[in-house]
Amino acid sequence: MTATTSPVLSVNRITAPTSAAGERFRAARRQTMQLCAPLTPEDMMVQSCAEASPAKWHLAHTTWFFESFVLREFLPGYRVFHADFAWLFNSYYESFSAFPEKRLRASFSRPGLDEILRYREHVDAAMERLFEQGPEVEALRRIELGANHEEQHQELLLTDILHAFFTNPLKPKYREQGNKGTRERENREQATPSSKDHSLGTPAGSKGAREQENGEQGSEGTREPLTQLGFAEFEGGLREAGHAGGGFCFDNEMPRHRVWLEPYALADRLVTCGEYAEFMADGGYQKPEFWLSAGWDAVKHNGWRAPLYWSGDEGERNVFTLRGELPLKDLAATPVSQVSFYEADAYARWAGLRLPTEFEWETAVEGQAVEGNLLDSGEFMPVPSADLVQDENGAKHYGDCWVWTSSAYLGYPGFHPLDGTLGEYNGKFMSGRMVLRGGSCVTPVRHIRASYRNFFAPETRWQFSGIRLAK
Ligand SMILES: [Fe+2]
Repeated sequence: MTATTSPVLSVNRITAPTSAAGERFRAARRQTMQLCAPLTPEDMMVQSCAEASPAKWHLAHTTWFFESFVLREFLPGYRVFHADFAWLFNSYYESFSAFPEKRLRASFSRPGLDEILRYREHVDAAMERLFEQGPEVEALRRIELGANHEEQHQELLLTDILHAFFTNPLKPKYREQGNKGTRERENREQATPSSKDHSLGTPAGSKGAREQENGEQGSEGTREPLTQLGFAEFEGGLREAGHAGGGFCFDNEMPRHRVWLEPYALADRLVTCGEYAEFMADGGYQKPEFWLSAGWDAVKHNGWRAPLYWSGDEGERNVFTLRGELPLKDLAATPVSQVSFYEADAYARWAGLRLPTEFEWETAVEGQAVEGNLLDSGEFMPVPSADLVQDENGAKHYGDCWVWTSSAYLGYPGFHPLDGTLGEYNGKFMSGRMVLRGGSCVTPVRHIRASYRNFFAPETRWQFSGIRLAK
């Protein structure tokens, strides 16, 4: 089934004087609306799992952020759109107001979508008045934070819609197919018949030790040969991690500090669906020796037998994506996604390797251009590594899937959260979560950087989260 377009959501009414903050704000607001264009109003009401929120709620909550933390404080005479929205669309800021339980967001049939869109227009218009007046420095900081916050919710909106469509018996498609990546791949395949040979995925002359992990077909009848897995080696030693220089970062990326790294090696691509299928065929989900204790408990308690969106039996599996349900046999060289930290760790243990620490990942990619299959590529799902740009080591560290690291999400030495209510943004979650790095196929390219820290509970599976091996 092809999703229909909601005409009411294809309109962007923001026009205003130019300024860096204004352009940043408008671009974020515009992109949210564009991502909603394939959705119906009914799609936008669905909250299909505990982690997810309805798209309509994302539209309102991102607006609430600007109203609550920018306009109410920095635009003289600002009148709130609706007094109840201040608490209704608060997500988790305890010091701001009470807020509804997250699981109740699907019950917000009122306010209706039209009213939410008028709320967005009301706040956008007020923001333009603020830009005309010239926001003070603290307001500009909050606007940049708000734009980054909205980009985070763009990613969440897509991951939540993917789950919503997965639970729909009709298995709707958010997109029919990817953008230029698909066209370029098809062109390459037509021009070069041998380009199907993914053993060529490691460029000649690349640095680092190379090891062939899997050169043959996946165990479930997958057609595409798997890419040769290479490793880039790093000396280790005393290094620095954390945000450096100018530009925006979240408080949890600071302060920059010294870290000690033993010599290590990082895989030059993510683990593929074909490789993960081999883990499954080898009894990966039946053998407790591969699993952390809490991970094995999760396997038994949740009945895990495959990544979240895999269905069917061995030999005839499908994978649900934003482009609909696809045969696993066509995704052998595609990075495996929607796995938990526990599954990533168990796979690494089965492979005789391990997950990287967050500092190993960061020091490996620092200074590299942010390139990869991110939201801007228009693919909307992971794609084989050989299909996209690679660095001089043959590695592509950004995009496709967030990489689970073995690092617990903690404050850096000397960490200080933002002052006031916004101090709740990141700091209060520094318990029971693991760090993920690198962004995914639904992360806006301008949003991600080497020092960026995502964090989720280790059992989390609904994100585009995958596996990069280390040793
Ligand atoms: Fe939020």
